[in-house]
Amino acid sequence: MEKKLLTTLAGEKPAIPPIWLMRQAGRYLPEYRRLRAKAGSFLDLCLNPALAAEATLQPVRRFDLDAAILFADILLIPFALGQDLSFVEGEGPRLSPPVTLERLDAFRRQNVVERLSPVFETLRRTKAALQPAKALIGFAGAPWTVATYMLAGGPIKDPAALRRLWYDQRDFLDALIGLLTEKTSEYLIAQLDAGADVVQLFDTWAGGLPWPILDSVSVRPLEKIAAAVKKARPGAPVIFFPKGVGEKAPEYLATGKCDGFGIDYAMDPSFARAQLGEHVVVQGGLDPLAVVTGGDVMIKAAASYLKLFHDVPYVFNLGHGLVPETPPENVDALVRFIRSGAWR
Ligand code: CP3
Repeated sequence: MEKKLLTTLAGEKPAIPPIWLMRQAGRYLPEYRRLRAKAGSFLDLCLNPALAAEATLQPVRRFDLDAAILFADILLIPFALGQDLSFVEGEGPRLSPPVTLERLDAFRRQNVVERLSPVFETLRRTKAALQPAKALIGFAGAPWTVATYMLAGGPIKDPAALRRLWYDQRDFLDALIGLLTEKTSEYLIAQLDAGADVVQLFDTWAGGLPWPILDSVSVRPLEKIAAAVKKARPGAPVIFFPKGVGEKAPEYLATGKCDGFGIDYAMDPSFARAQLGEHVVVQGGLDPLAVVTGGDVMIKAAASYLKLFHDVPYVFNLGHGLVPETPPENVDALVRFIRSGAWR
């Protein structure tokens, strides 16, 4: 059975684009909130294959989506490297202790594939339960985004301090990014072996960096990871999602290593169509906040992406993840509208 997401990433243009949504599993779904309460902590949920597979499958059961995305988190890599990870209600993730140059050797010795074995079991279970026409998406955080959490001990509060590292402690930053590049490549290859059909790299904090820094901490590491993945598993599609990179997006395509390119809600869709759409399969764009509002506002906003990309292969998605305030019925209405073809 052909999977529409995969044939589209390979360059075919279906009449209706494949659909999946970043953060399609999560707190906006009542069934997720029940599962999360049962698991205890978010980390317990991520590392329990039976429950994590259930969380992965929940949105594909409820909505007519073309793919399931592994239920896990980008911060499992720092956890596997030896940082303590917790999610504090209302504050977000916390990683401790902060990374130092001295700890990198200990990190290097960790076998992330072994430590994250429950994640691969989640993929195997999900694959067994998923309808054959639906693709299974694996993912990881990009080295820079993961490094920002590792260095700050949580969400970045002081972007200037992180940027200064590039000037003041370049060897340390390069070593950390290099280490994450290697570990992330191994992790994604193992996800493909466990049943993922495609992998996506999230570089949420790529925006706002001057070019030489962006090139060295984001473009090159993504290129290296995708090259390692494709060398080990030829034909495996890779999607890049570097958020906030604006006019630098073509630099990622120039690596020749991404099959799909996720655009964020701030990127000018006409720029994306003209500069990216001819060279790569563009994914996403719609502001997730339009889905909170729903109704005509959401439908018009979605239709504008669908119309603009109607003549090239395109993957329908958002420009960032669904937020917890999203009414699930709006997601249902969005998916039905796209499927109806009424936007053509
Ligand atoms: O449905 C999916 O998209 C798959 C699962 C997934 C999660 N996180 C689950 C999650 C994916 C792909 C991620 C990626 C992720 N995690 C990113 C990159 C994408 C993005 O959103 O920018 C980042 C930066 C993280 C780190 C992270 N995880 C933060 C900052 C937080 C706290 C903020 C928040 O939204 O709660 C998380 C927690 C998290 N990851 C939740 C979920 C469902 C909420 C946890 C809960 O249930 O309390």
